[in-house]
Amino acid sequence: MPDSPPIVFGNWKMNGRRTDAQALVQAILHGCGQPTTGTLGICPPATLLASAAEWLTESSIKLGGQDCAAEASGAFTGDISAPMLRDAGCGFTLVGHSERRHGHGESDALVKAKAEAAFEAGLNVVLCIGETEAEWDAGQTIQVLDRQLEQSLPAGVVADNLIIAYEPVWAIGTGKTPSMDDIANTHAHLKSKLASLSAVGGDLPILYGGSVKAANAGEILAIDHVDGALVGGASLKADEFLAIFQAGLEAKAG
Ligand code: 13P
Repeated sequence: MPDSPPIVFGNWKMNGRRTDAQALVQAILHGCGQPTTGTLGICPPATLLASAAEWLTESSIKLGGQDCAAEASGAFTGDISAPMLRDAGCGFTLVGHSERRHGHGESDALVKAKAEAAFEAGLNVVLCIGETEAEWDAGQTIQVLDRQLEQSLPAGVVADNLIIAYEPVWAIGTGKTPSMDDIANTHAHLKSKLASLSAVGGDLPILYGGSVKAANAGEILAIDHVDGALVGGASLKADEFLAIFQAGLEAKAG
């Protein structure tokens, strides 16, 4: 039976300046036209969001932030609030990415507050979770993911305002991925865990992230309960990013 069409988001991280970013967006637009099925989105760095919103005018490609503050405004030097993301043209934001959790010491409670601030501002949220290599090696993956979900799942979840992204920290930017069986088992667990935590939890899409590229996207996106991909490095090349989306469309068409 055909599955729901895929959701593929590109997280550009701290990459891109106006000229190369505009060329990348144009190449994506040129390559995909108007996607009529599936969901394609990009998360450029904050400096490019307002420009990207203009470049994407009249496109169905979604625009997201990479993070937001838990507060709406005030004396928080260097931070960017959810209402600011919205004002720049974003429809969603990532929160809880491992580069925030581990690189900036963000706790589950802070990630939850950020997600709630995003909802408050009218943004949808991609809540990222994932275990470190040491936790993976110690067999603690499920325990860690359960804790992250229990403690960072925001209040106010409805079926279409939250997406979960499972990104094993050790798979990010390393070229390594869990086996397909491991991804399948983890996503199946996440599905039932989410159903136990929220009335709509079982309906929330779950993306996989970590070294997704054109060469492995078909296999990964064909897995049950893998509803799409959160792509880092490969989202910086239009042909690679679009090939991932295309592989997802084919995998989900079954
Ligand atoms: P890579 O695709 O570069 O491994 O990064 C994944 C990621 O962190 C997306 O948020």
